[in-house]
Amino acid sequence: MKKQAELFNGKAKTVYATDDPDKLILHFRNDTSAFDGEKIEQLDRKGMVNNRFNAFIMEKLEAAGVPTHHEKIISDEESLVKNLDMLPIECVVRNISTGSLCKRLGVEEGMDLNPPTFEFFLKNDELHDPMINDYHILSFKWATEDEIAQMKTLTFKVNDILTKLFRDAGMLLVDYKLEFGRYQGALLLGDEFTPDGCRLWDIETRKKLDKDRFRQGLGGVVEAYEEVAHRLGVKL
Ligand code: ATP
Ligand code: TYD
Repeated sequence: MKKQAELFNGKAKTVYATDDPDKLILHFRNDTSAFDGEKIEQLDRKGMVNNRFNAFIMEKLEAAGVPTHHEKIISDEESLVKNLDMLPIECVVRNISTGSLCKRLGVEEGMDLNPPTFEFFLKNDELHDPMINDYHILSFKWATEDEIAQMKTLTFKVNDILTKLFRDAGMLLVDYKLEFGRYQGALLLGDEFTPDGCRLWDIETRKKLDKDRFRQGLGGVVEAYEEVAHRLGVKL
């Protein structure tokens, strides 16, 4: 498998073609961005930590029956993945109220949400990823009814698997974002699962162990990601 042309340079990852049209290389960079790219910094080791963390989570999910794009790690900061036709949609589940949910609905921070909420957002940086519903997705043909149902089922299945995995390691999975794509007639989990795209709090102290440390200028960002990895037994 040979690395070929750069296809896309995103805010945190670069995507490369390979000599196999069905496979891509994802390069997890040290770049860290927040507020739609308004705040950007390079954080030493973050690319490597996220690459290994993501592989660990994707492998756990795959083993538990969630189909993913992940194939294998090929270097410190790179993984080989299946080339998906990504849906322009982000699926967010929230187990505890915080962040934009509290601002939008005026609800208290830190409430346990039972059942958890589910939200769709349109992947569009210029429009600041607006929230959308099933009807927008159908009217604009961003996905089919069957794909909507699969995204919900798979995103909640991920919640069952990962809330337990993190709880057993002393952490609360507060909320997270997933992206899906089409591959040979199936819908697979794509993109990444790392502390860049979820919120994790220590169960006892509620210390933030995710990208909110960067958003809020709390410091110790990569150190927190490494602590999460260490608690889960991810080899860095
Ligand atoms: P955001 O943080 O809003 O996702 P971005 O698009 O800049 O911003 P990056 O993570 O930097 O995000 O870029 C990675 C890009 O690769 C994303 O657009 C993502 O949808 C896409 N992608 C991830 N996995 C796959 C895959 N298996 N096949 C095709 N594209 C993928
Ligand atoms: P949200 O509360 O909407 O984020 P914020 O408070 O930063 O506006 O996001 C919920 C969770 O989903 C949070 O863990 C971050 C993640 N997420 C992303 O990583 N990217 C996104 O584009 C969105 C909408 C959410």
